[in-house]
Amino acid sequence: RILILDFGSQYTQLIARRVREIGVYCELHPFDMDEQAIRDFSPKGIILSGGPESVHEINSPRAPQVVFELNIPILGICYGMQTMAEQLGGKVESSTLREFGYAQVDIVGKSELLNKIEDNNNAGTPILDVWMSHGDKVTQLPQGFTKLASTPSCPYAGMVDNGRHWYGLQFHPEVTHTKQGGRILSRFILDICQCKALWTPANIIEDMTQKVREQVGNANVLLGLSGGVDSSVVAALLHKAIGSQLTCVFVDNGLLRLHEGDQVMSMFAENMGVKVIRANAEDLFLGKLAGISDPEQKRKIIGNTFIEVFDQESNKLDNIQFLAQGTIYPDVIESAGAKTGKAHVIKSHHNVGGLPEDMKLKLVEPLRELFKDEVRKIGLELGLPYNMVYRHPFPGPGLGVRILGEIKKEYAGLLRQADHIFIEELHNADWYHKVSQAFVVFQPVKSVGVVGDGRRYAWVVALRAVETIDFMTARWAHLPYELLEKVSNRIINEIEDISRVTYDVSSKPPATIEWE
Ligand code: XMP
Repeated sequence: RILILDFGSQYTQLIARRVREIGVYCELHPFDMDEQAIRDFSPKGIILSGGPESVHEINSPRAPQVVFELNIPILGICYGMQTMAEQLGGKVESSTLREFGYAQVDIVGKSELLNKIEDNNNAGTPILDVWMSHGDKVTQLPQGFTKLASTPSCPYAGMVDNGRHWYGLQFHPEVTHTKQGGRILSRFILDICQCKALWTPANIIEDMTQKVREQVGNANVLLGLSGGVDSSVVAALLHKAIGSQLTCVFVDNGLLRLHEGDQVMSMFAENMGVKVIRANAEDLFLGKLAGISDPEQKRKIIGNTFIEVFDQESNKLDNIQFLAQGTIYPDVIESAGAKTGKAHVIKSHHNVGGLPEDMKLKLVEPLRELFKDEVRKIGLELGLPYNMVYRHPFPGPGLGVRILGEIKKEYAGLLRQADHIFIEELHNADWYHKVSQAFVVFQPVKSVGVVGDGRRYAWVVALRAVETIDFMTARWAHLPYELLEKVSNRIINEIEDISRVTYDVSSKPPATIEWE
C-alpha cells in the first residue's frame, strides 16, 4: 500500500484516486501524520503532494523526518518536491512569477521513473507535455540527487536519486493534462514500489465482506436505505456479508421521484431478498411542512421528521446493535481536513439530518475507504443495475427543495410527473450521463397559456441541468434546443396543470444548483 501525505493541494484527492485506479490501495493523510502511525501503516512507497504554501513561509509544512528513514521509494510532487529538496539540504527559491498551465519539459536525466516515457523527442531528448502550477522552484539539488527534467523557466523540473528511488517532479502527473501522468504514476507504484494491482472490485468486496462479518458477529444491523447510490451499495454489500442479520428502513416521505419507493422495494426486497421495512410517512411529512415556506426551516423539518420515523421503525426491531451508514472516503477526508484546519474545506450537505445520538448503536461503515467511482464499481460487481449505480445525486430533502416555498401534495405530484418526463427524454437523447445532475423545479406561480381554443391558467416549471466535477462550481448544461423543445412540449401537453416550461441558465456561483 501507498501513503500519500497531503500538503493541501487541490489535486491531492486526485493522486489518491489515480493510485486506486492503478489497482493499489492507498490512504491520504495530513502531512503532519504521527511518525509512529506512518511506521505502523508500513507503506511500500510515499507520495508527498503539492500544496499552496512556500517553503520559505514561517511554519510552512514539512514532511515528517521518518519519511526519509524508512528506506522506501518517495515521490514528491510540486510542493512535495520542494520541501523534499529543502529538507534534504538543497535550495528552493521563491519567485513572484507563477508558472501555471501547460508546459513542455525536457527529460535530461536517466531514471527508472521516466525511462522510455515521452510525448515527443527532440534529437534524442525525450519531451513530456505536462501540467505545471507553481511559484517557487528548486535551484540547488540536495546531495545524492541529479537533474531529471527541466524547462526554460524551471531548471530543475524533476530530480532523482536513483540509488534510493527518491524522485521529485515539479509538474503534476495526477492531472489528466499531463498526458503520460498515468504511466508515470503506474511506473512509480507498480515497478518502483513493487506494489501489486490487487485493489479490484471483486477483491474489495471480498475484503469488506470479511471485515463486516468480523465486526458484527451474530448481531443485527440496521440501515437507512434512501435509494441513493451509497446506501444502496451498502445494502447490497451487507446483504451479501450477513444476509438476514440486516434490516433496512426505507422512509417514503412523499418527496421522492416517480415510482422511487416501488423501485427500491422491488429491487431490494423482491429481487434480492433484503429485509426492507417501508415506512409510508407522506402524510406525516406533508402535515408538518404545511404552511412552511422558508427553505432552511423546510430542510430542518424534513431532517427531524426523518429521524423521528426512522427511530419509530427501528424501535420495533429486536436486538439491533449496529447502525450501517454509507459514509465514503471523501467524507472521511473532509472531516479530517476540517479538524486540522488544512485544505478541503468544502461545503458538505449532510444527508437527511444526522442520526440521533441516543440510539447507542455502533457504526458499520463499509465504504469508508472508497471513492465514489469505486463505490459505483463495486455496486455493479454486486449486481446492482447500471442506471441505479450511475444515477444523478438526489438531495436528502428530495423534492422538498425543488418546490419553491410551501410544499403541497398537489405540487409534489405535478413536479414528479414533469421531472420524470425530463429524465426520460435525457435518457432517450443520450444526454443523461453527459450532465452531472438534472431535474425540474416547481414554481408556485401561474401563467397564461392557450390550448386549442381555450385559455389555460396553470403552473410554471423550470428545467435545470448542470455539468460539474465537484458540485462546488457548475455550468448550466448546453442541452440541444431540440431536446429542450421535446421536453417542453411533452410536459405542457401531458400535464394539464402546467402551462409553461423555462430553462435555467444560471451557473454556480453565483447561483446554486438547487433553487433552495
Ligand atoms: P447546491 O444547491 O448547494 O447543491 O449547489 C450542491 C449539491 O448538493 C445537493 N444538495 C443537497 N444534498 N441535502 C443533501 O443531501 C441537502 O440539503 C442538499 N442541498 C443540495 C444538490 O442536489 C447538489 O448535488
